Amino acid sequence: MKSFKIRNIEINPPLVLSPMAGVTDYSFRRLAKSCGGIGLTVSEFISVEGLTRNNPKARRQMRFWEMERPFAVQIFGGQIERMRMAAEIAEEVGADILDINCGCPAPKVVKNGGGSGLLKDLPRLETILKEIKRTITIPLTLKFRAGYTDTTLNFLDVARLAEDCGVEHLQLHGRTKEQGYKGLANWDYVRQVKEAVKIPVSGSGDVVSIEGALKKWRDTRCDGILIGRGAMQNPWIFRQIEDVLAGREPFQPTLEDKQRVLLEYFEMLREDMPELPAIGKMKQLAGQFTKGLVGGAQFRQTLYHSHSVAEVLDNIGVYFETLNAGDVYGDGSIETDKDLEFESCAAEESCEAAAAH
Ligand SMILES: Cc1cc2nc3c(=O)[nH]c(=O)nc-3n(C[C@H](O)[C@H](O)[C@H](O)COP(=O)(O)O)c2cc1C
Repeated sequence: MKSFKIRNIEINPPLVLSPMAGVTDYSFRRLAKSCGGIGLTVSEFISVEGLTRNNPKARRQMRFWEMERPFAVQIFGGQIERMRMAAEIAEEVGADILDINCGCPAPKVVKNGGGSGLLKDLPRLETILKEIKRTITIPLTLKFRAGYTDTTLNFLDVARLAEDCGVEHLQLHGRTKEQGYKGLANWDYVRQVKEAVKIPVSGSGDVVSIEGALKKWRDTRCDGILIGRGAMQNPWIFRQIEDVLAGREPFQPTLEDKQRVLLEYFEMLREDMPELPAIGKMKQLAGQFTKGLVGGAQFRQTLYHSHSVAEVLDNIGVYFETLNAGDVYGDGSIETDKDLEFESCAAEESCEAAAAH
């Protein structure tokens, strides 16, 4: 696995922090990027309706750090002229790449023709891509699902259409709209797309380990790999994969690393937003972070009942001090359940919430 280029932009290492509405905001992306190994970051999906009507939330979602570059802004919508205008705005704010969301399954998004709704209307998708290509000079990329339903899989048609319209990178999440986040992503679809087009192709879905990433790459020969939920549980996963690709032992974060990163994240959140949402986001990440750690489930319960910054900080302090001292936290049990069902529900809620704006 080696770096690849989207036009003249090098994606090195070929690992992408997958966009996640409600998660991969300004603060999370900084945290993840600081853990290393990320070749491309992407904004949360941004509503073109909000953006072109000067909605402050949509504008805020386009902020990025210089250290993130290369950085892609992802937009969603179904209205041709609004998509074009939003793409223009993304280029104006300095994004390196403009990405189109052709995969979100949230009913509110689909109903308005956006997200995976575009999979049902390829003529509209084609017009949108052509209009945007005429408007912007930065590379245009597409993130899409395998099809609307199992019986209407059209990922190869979408891939070829996109390539013909001048799209310069394809990112396929091998699930259908109907599937939501259930079951597993089918990476054979990624292999088929890679064989069908000349532009770079990356795959998305269920990468939560170094071995998983390498196997998917070997099986598909795709150019890049996207990691979403896996990065919430382990933001060092990119660095670990990069280490293995370079023949090094993978970096192993210590408890101190985990605590430090959590606290830094909380500080960034508090600088960026009011206390309540900052606490909410902190709970979300801390919950993911402690999966698989001793007493993680009890810690999450404690955190869930924390209602102020001081309480959150106290509880984090107690948890990590207990583990560092080698003492037992809660009943000392370690979760083995790596099931992603919880995040799947969160995904749909986040998508819904994001779409509500
Ligand atoms: C909470 C959440 C929010 C998501 N939001 C977006 C989004 O805004 N844009 C997008 O293209 N995909 C979105 N996705 C899909 C992910 O980018 C990714 O394709 C999918 O989760 C499968 O990859 P994973 O198993 O590595 O998470 C979201 C997924 C989750 C879990």
